[in-house]
Amino acid sequence: MIIKTKQTIIIFLTFAAMITKEDLFKKVVAHAREYGYVFPSSEIYDGLSAVYDYGQYGVELKNNIRDYWWNSMVKFHENIVGIDSAIFMHSTVWKASGHVDAFNDPLIDNKDSKKRYRADMLIEDHIAKIELKIEKEVQKAEKRFGADFNREMFLKTNQRVVDYRNQIESVTHRMNSSLGKEDLADVKSLIEELEIVCPVSGSRNWTEVRQFNLMFSTKTGSVANNDDSGVIYLRPETAQGIFVNFLNVLKTSRMKVPFGIAQVGKAFRNEIVARQFIFRMREFEQMEMQYFVRPGTEMEWYSYWKEERMKWHQSLGIDASKFRFHEHEKLAHYANAAADIEFEFPFGFRELEGIHSRTDFDLAAHQKFSGKKMQYFDPELNESYIPYVVETSIGLDRMFLAVLSNAYQEETLEDGSERTVLKILPRLAPVKVAVLPLVKKDGLPEKAREIMDMLKHKHMCQYDEKDAIGRRYRRQDAIGTPYCITVDHETLTDNTVTIRERDSMKQDRVNIENIPVVLMERI
Ligand code: GAP
Repeated sequence: MIIKTKQTIIIFLTFAAMITKEDLFKKVVAHAREYGYVFPSSEIYDGLSAVYDYGQYGVELKNNIRDYWWNSMVKFHENIVGIDSAIFMHSTVWKASGHVDAFNDPLIDNKDSKKRYRADMLIEDHIAKIELKIEKEVQKAEKRFGADFNREMFLKTNQRVVDYRNQIESVTHRMNSSLGKEDLADVKSLIEELEIVCPVSGSRNWTEVRQFNLMFSTKTGSVANNDDSGVIYLRPETAQGIFVNFLNVLKTSRMKVPFGIAQVGKAFRNEIVARQFIFRMREFEQMEMQYFVRPGTEMEWYSYWKEERMKWHQSLGIDASKFRFHEHEKLAHYANAAADIEFEFPFGFRELEGIHSRTDFDLAAHQKFSGKKMQYFDPELNESYIPYVVETSIGLDRMFLAVLSNAYQEETLEDGSERTVLKILPRLAPVKVAVLPLVKKDGLPEKAREIMDMLKHKHMCQYDEKDAIGRRYRRQDAIGTPYCITVDHETLTDNTVTIRERDSMKQDRVNIENIPVVLMERI
């Protein structure tokens, strides 16, 4: 298909610029805004904390990630179906699920700055500072010992580091145990003992720690009174929409256990601390799947879905070392096992997806509160039971941030010029192909338009004729377009174009009629 590889103007050689992790995060946020990926919500009114809008490229990337997930779940599994349930649900759903009583975070205020914090996050920040001290000791020792330095050995034997690690262990244990027992007075004592100060006022003038429910509530229009009747919630997870439709799907789909129901949709949480850009938002999107299994087999399926989901992440061209599992010690009220898939964001390893063995908690609770039998008749066992559930739950916005921060690179080229490039997997890239006439005359724009018309039904394409070709390539690199098709004067004589590949910047000369096949092979 490819006629010849053009030995092009640019001889490709890159040096990844050294960017610190902190810098990288700032640069990713600025880039996302400058190139139409993510904008602060209501920006002309100075924004709304922890709420963001997706721009022209952001929405395409988000759609592509969503489709990739949906296809891998619903299209490729005969026993998984999708639904789209409403955001508003009967308020008893949230009583049954435990969210009204237990979907809380521990809150603490500083009386001087009037700033509000999550008590556990203040303690975690304190732990992060001790971790930083360990890292500094390691760096000092690395310099001192040079090539002979053995990190593992140093971490185990250096007395100062061992003391720091013991401190972390004891603080973590105390925090988890107090939170587990809901001993909020002890959480406050811990904050006082660790002499944690408010980052704004610098004071230790704290209120008591109290529980704060994360659900947003509103009222239906048909209710005029001021009491609690008519209160409805914006769903804090999409999962409950699946549980309350369990019987509907069972009756109408002829599914047999084990089977799954998947859903993608908005969820809302009144997060106390909103930070790290789109990592923790008050309005966000979840991609969840509830897998209904025979009681007693849930641990097998829990292991199965953990592995499957890790494989899914690794199929996205991101280095495997950027993902790890984190098994939960403190389990949610509904789970008998839970693990996170963590991703190495620029600010460290954090939760990207949760895999939870939810037992029969939700269906049993809805059976109790609704009076409807949430059971499955198993023809092989000839008995009815409430199925157990294994859930996979991933934040679409977090996945977006993972893809974007992994893709961002700054490169110095051999000729000394620099480029910023988003090396997004072609399948996920917002724009797949840019079609560029070399000049705005001599019939090249018309030819380029013909190519656009040929490709636009299959791929998201962009036509660009403004500025010198080098600047147009840089623009496409910055938005992550994997392929640029350039129409030049040779095109008019031999019906060929160049296809430039974003990452290698190599250009191949291809016959126009072969472009669809070449793109199909590469995207
Ligand atoms: N149904 C289970 C459930 O909701 P979760 O661990 O609370 O579990 C699942 O949330 C996923 O949703 C998380 O792994 C994360 O990716 C995403 N998520 C949770 N809270 C979020 C927030 N405030 N902003 C963005 N994503 C969030």
